[in-house]
Amino acid sequence: MSGIFDVHAHYDDEKFDTDREEVLSSMAEKNVICIVNAGTDIETSRKTLNYCERYDFMYGAVGIHPECADNLPQDYLKEIENMAMHEKAVAIGEIGLDYYWDGVPRDIQKKVFTEQLELAYKLSMPVVIHDRDAHGDTMEILRKYKPKGIMHCFSGSVEMCREIVNLGMSISLGGVVTFKNARHSVEVAKYIPLDRLMLETDAPYLAPVPFRGKRCDSSMIMMTAERIAEIKGISVEELLKITAENACRMYGIVL
Ligand code: NI
Repeated sequence: MSGIFDVHAHYDDEKFDTDREEVLSSMAEKNVICIVNAGTDIETSRKTLNYCERYDFMYGAVGIHPECADNLPQDYLKEIENMAMHEKAVAIGEIGLDYYWDGVPRDIQKKVFTEQLELAYKLSMPVVIHDRDAHGDTMEILRKYKPKGIMHCFSGSVEMCREIVNLGMSISLGGVVTFKNARHSVEVAKYIPLDRLMLETDAPYLAPVPFRGKRCDSSMIMMTAERIAEIKGISVEELLKITAENACRMYGIVL
């Protein structure tokens, strides 16, 4: 049986506060071979690195999420750079734009996003990108910077997906592809070339059917994998193997 590689999760979330240790300790027996935890600010990036030191199978992305981009300390970028030097930090993320919540002014979001893209370029590290209801501006910035990295929880159209693939980036899909109203997501899953596809949970959010609405953990990727394997017309084994290889290549992880 091929193992599960979850390219994007948030085990620092308070929804895991009561049993984090237990959940993470049970991952190996649930066939999870690797998890990349994504920081969303300085504090959660630091927590991410703590988990990395604690668990062999855990790696980390460090960075500032657009919702956390306001009121940053002046030396925030230096702080992220220092954390990115950790031997288990494998990406800058999650970074991007979020116009759904719109709690942070857009010009600040763009500034923090592009500064972190420049940092990733300087450090030759991949980026993990969050784009919610901000497709136009996100694409404009990606066209300019052409980063190496992953569009996480991709929610755009097939046309946008094509452009991202043409820019050389990869795309990770999560539980949404199992939802009943996921037509968009199914078309995208069909389109993404197999060598650019990865699997994620975004745990504790976006649990796949039949766990929709519940707290998500990395073992639930199996439901997402089954659905995508069906769409792709390959076996689940094969899909898990290919997506794990893609993730290892992207993050520079040797399992
Ligand atoms: Ni996330």
